[in-house]
Amino acid sequence: MSVIMTELHSRRILLGITGGIAAYKAAELVRLLVKAGFEVQCVMTEAAQHFIGAATLQALSGQPVLMQLWDEASGDGMDHIRLSREADAILIAPASANFIAKLAHGLADDLLSTLCLASACPLAVAPAMNKQMWDKPATQRNLEQIRQDGIPLFGPANGEQACGELGMGRMLEPETLLIELEALFQPKLLAGKQVMITAGPTYEPIDPVRGITNLSSGKMGYALARAAWEAGAAVTLVSGPTALATPPNVRMIPVTTAQEMHDAVMREIKKTDIFIAVAAVADYRVAHIAQQKLKKTQTAPTLTLEPNPDILAEVAALPKAPFCAGFAAETEKLSEHAQAKRARKSIPLIIANRAQEALGQDESTLILIDSSGSHALPRQAKLLSARQVIKHIASLL
Ligand code: C5P
Repeated sequence: MSVIMTELHSRRILLGITGGIAAYKAAELVRLLVKAGFEVQCVMTEAAQHFIGAATLQALSGQPVLMQLWDEASGDGMDHIRLSREADAILIAPASANFIAKLAHGLADDLLSTLCLASACPLAVAPAMNKQMWDKPATQRNLEQIRQDGIPLFGPANGEQACGELGMGRMLEPETLLIELEALFQPKLLAGKQVMITAGPTYEPIDPVRGITNLSSGKMGYALARAAWEAGAAVTLVSGPTALATPPNVRMIPVTTAQEMHDAVMREIKKTDIFIAVAAVADYRVAHIAQQKLKKTQTAPTLTLEPNPDILAEVAALPKAPFCAGFAAETEKLSEHAQAKRARKSIPLIIANRAQEALGQDESTLILIDSSGSHALPRQAKLLSARQVIKHIASLL
C-alpha cells in the first residue's frame, strides 16, 4: 500500500486595511489568519487609522503595522518593494471604493497602493462600502476593470450596513474571507468541472415526530465540497439534515429522506462530471409512515421496512455516467468490505474509513482504493483529507 503525505506551506499574507467601518473586523481576520498558520503583515492606509488602532493589529499579528511610504526609519526607503516581494498573497480587507478606484487606475500615492502596484504575487480584494457607493457606475466600472485584470473579488455580501441601510456592500465575515484566501493557495485541478456531492445522514420518518437516522455529521462531505470548489469546480451539495454551515460558493440542495436525495441527484446528474457519494444513506425506509403520532401500546409494534434506492449504484450504471467515487464506512474488515463495495457498485474509486473513527469526528484516516491498489492517507483534519481525495480524483480523470 502506498502512503500519500500531506503538503506543508509557509504562507505569508500581506493584509491591507483601508478606510471603512468594516476595518474593525480586520482584527478578527488577523486573529483567524494567525490561527490558521499564516504569517501576517498588516499595512494600513491613513484613513484606516481612524477606524482601528495599529496597536490592536500589531498585538494580533506580532508584527509592527506599516503605514508610511516616506518612513525615515526604513533605511533604503524601499518598503513597498520589500513588502510586495515577501508576501505570498496580498488581501485588501476592507477595500474601500476609493482604494478599488486606485487599483483600477494604477495609482500609487501611499504605501499600500504602491506595494500593490509593485507586487508580483496574487492580490485579492474584499470590498466594503455603502450600497450607493457600490451601485455607482464609476465603482462598477472600476470593479469590472480589476476583475479583468485578474484580481479576485471576495464578496461583498448583501445585508445590513453600518449606516443602517440594507444592500450590497457588506464586507464578507472574517471566517468566509479566510476560506476564500485558503482557496487562492489550492491548485485549480478541477477548473471547469461540475461536481455533485451527497453528504450527511438521511432521515426516514416513522410518524410525524419520529424517524430512523444515523450518526453521520456531514463533515467529510462538506469538506469535500469545499475542497472541490477550492480546486476550481462548480459544486452542488445534496445534503441530509446536518448542523453545518454550507461552504461559501457551494450550491446546496437540502433533502431529508433517501428518496428525496435520490430525486435531487437524478434531476441534475446529466450536467455532472464527477459524483462523490459521501452521504450515509439509509438502506431501508418505513413502508407505511403513520400520519399521526403512534401511541404506546401493550405489545411492541413491528416496523415493516422496504429498500431505498442505491443512489451511487444507479448513477454509476447510467449510460453516460460521471466519474463516481463512493465512501465505505466499515466497523470491521475495512479493506475487504471496501474492495467488495467498489466491485459491486462498479465505481473507479472507493474511499474506506473506520466508522467508529470517522463518524462525527473532525479528523479522518482514509484509504483510497482504485484499480491501481490502496493508498493510505495519514490521520488528519477532514479538510486536508478532502484536498487529497480531490487531487487523487483529478489524477484519475
Ligand atoms: O451503504 P453503503 O455501504 O453501500 O454505501 C457505500 C456508498 O454508497 C457511499 O458512498 C454511499 O453514499 C452510497 N450509497 C448511496 N445510496 C444508498 C446507499 C449508499 O448512494 N442507498
